[in-house]
Amino acid sequence: MISKLQLSLAIIKPHTVKNPVALTYIRNVLKNKFVVIKTKRLFLDKSTAANFYIEHKDKFFFNRLVTFMSSGYIDLHVLGHKNAIHLWRKMLGPTKVYKAQFEDPYSLRGMFGLSDTRNVAHGSDSLTSAEREIKFFFPEFSFYEWHSSNEELYR
Ligand code: TYD
Ligand code: MG
Repeated sequence: MISKLQLSLAIIKPHTVKNPVALTYIRNVLKNKFVVIKTKRLFLDKSTAANFYIEHKDKFFFNRLVTFMSSGYIDLHVLGHKNAIHLWRKMLGPTKVYKAQFEDPYSLRGMFGLSDTRNVAHGSDSLTSAEREIKFFFPEFSFYEWHSSNEELYR
C-alpha cells in the first residue's frame, strides 16, 4: 500500500504575496512538488494573527510578527505529500534569513527573505501543529474524511 499523504499548512507572507517574481516561483514549486488540496487568500486582523502565533506570545518578536502578518494579504495552502511537513520546511530553509543566505542560499528564505520576520513563508513544524493550523484556517476541513478517502484511493 502506498503510504497516506501527509498534510502541512503553508502560509505565503504579505511581502511575498506582493512580490510577483517570488510568488510565481513559489507557486510553481508548490504545483510541481505537492498536491495542493486547498488554497485561500486572506487579510488577517491582528487578533487572528496573534491567535495563530499564540505559542510565541512571550517572545521579543511577537508584536512585530503579528503587525507584519496583518499588514497585507496572505496566501494559505494545504499541501499534501508523503513527507509534506519536512519537505516544505526544508524548501523554506532556516528561520533566520542571514542563516538561510549563508547555509542554504537556494532555499526560499535564502533567495527571497528580507529579515527574520519577513522570511517569505510559514510551514507547520509537526503533525500536531499541521492539524491545528489547517483547522484554524479551514474549519470545514475534515481530517477524518480526508484520511478515509485517501485510504480508499491507495488501497
Ligand atoms: P519560528 O516558529 O521560530 O520559526 P519558523 O517560521 O521557521 O517555524 O518563528 C515564527 C516566526 O516568528 C518566524 O517565521 C518569523 C518570526 N521570528 C522573528 O521575527 N524573529 C525571530 O528571531 C524568530 C526566531 C522568529
Ligand atoms: Mg514555527
